[in-house]
Amino acid sequence: MSILNGKHIVLGICGGIAAYKSVSLLRLLIKAGAEVQVVITPAGKEFITPVTLSALSQKPVVSEFFTANTGEWHSHVDLGLWADCMVIAPATASTLGKMAHGIADNMLVTTYLSAKSPVFIAPAMDLDMMRHPSTQTNLALLASYGNHIIEPGSGFLASGLEGKGRMEEPENIVKYLEDFFSKAQDLAGHHVLITAGPTYEKIDPVRFIGNYSSGKMGYALAEECASRGAKVTLVSGPVSIKAVNPAITTVHVESAREMLEECRKVFPETDIAIMCAAVADYAPATCSDRKIKREHDDVPVITLVKNPDIAATLGAEKNDSQILVGFALETDNETVNAEQKLYKKNLDMIVLNSMRDNGAGFGVDTNKVSIFKRDSDPMDFPLKTKAQVATDIIDEIVKSL
Ligand code: CTP
Repeated sequence: MSILNGKHIVLGICGGIAAYKSVSLLRLLIKAGAEVQVVITPAGKEFITPVTLSALSQKPVVSEFFTANTGEWHSHVDLGLWADCMVIAPATASTLGKMAHGIADNMLVTTYLSAKSPVFIAPAMDLDMMRHPSTQTNLALLASYGNHIIEPGSGFLASGLEGKGRMEEPENIVKYLEDFFSKAQDLAGHHVLITAGPTYEKIDPVRFIGNYSSGKMGYALAEECASRGAKVTLVSGPVSIKAVNPAITTVHVESAREMLEECRKVFPETDIAIMCAAVADYAPATCSDRKIKREHDDVPVITLVKNPDIAATLGAEKNDSQILVGFALETDNETVNAEQKLYKKNLDMIVLNSMRDNGAGFGVDTNKVSIFKRDSDPMDFPLKTKAQVATDIIDEIVKSL
């Protein structure tokens, strides 16, 4: 029996050629045992008729805020609360823009804004529209709000052009939902500690020693753990991103010492700890309480002291039931260095990313990792989005629980 059996799904359909595929998607969801309420935009009805959709879903299709002749009000709030998930397929550029910016001028967008459940978005459009910066910005915004983007595939498009923009096939969308719901609760009851971002080590009130870490990988891990049912404490250095899932408690710190202090407070209550932060190895021995001025004749010399190793400290304190995971960012001798860190810091698993791989490392949205565990051969993964990499890492941790 499919895990979608009995689930309440709102299927949002927008006005694009790919709307014809929504009929197959609807049929597959119904076949899987889901109860589906179709919400279609006015433009969607130009591509596919409500009669087909209501016959298949066995429910009247919702499109307007009220039925014109009776005045019956269609409550997007009730629909948003009823849904176990909302799937928007196809999602057009226009609807993505409205969803990203809260332009609630149709039933689909109002339902989206009212939905408390996970939302899955399967975009479909021409390749130039897809790669336009405004579409990409809207997709990034929607992902940052915690929505799940089901990436379109590449191939022959209705425009006659070839490229990225084809809505993901209905079978794969159903598989995506099944994977989501079957994993959904495999970290329920677990408390995960994650460190993320850089640390800033103060030189004076206006200067610091830091690094280029954006925090994206650590935050992606936090979202993945929270979406799988875990309680998450995210100890984060200074970054410009925010955690979305309410199950994540973010503790903001600046320096390595503050990060260690906050980690030690929660570590005894956690059963999984993932050290993803790019912790500065050294800090200035003293921090001037005034701005260091340029008039000095001598070039100032900054004496550095070693920072505590947070991963190694927790590694020395951990008990047998706790899983400690580290990262290794290397530029050379990658495998040897990663394996050494695994044992030296008493980790159970280490995730290696090499600065030599294009698309891996600081700032970018993608990563290419290898995972080393004590009891198995290293596993190499291809280049993926940081969200997908987070899924791979958490899958491996779950296997060790
Ligand atoms: N780490 C830490 N505290 C530090 C330094 C590193 O917790 N002071 C953690 C990182 O979060 C990561 C792992 O240790 O999980 C390895 O970090 P990395 O910077 O690759 O290695 P270092 O131990 O700092 O060694 P080196 O800089 O010499 O490669």
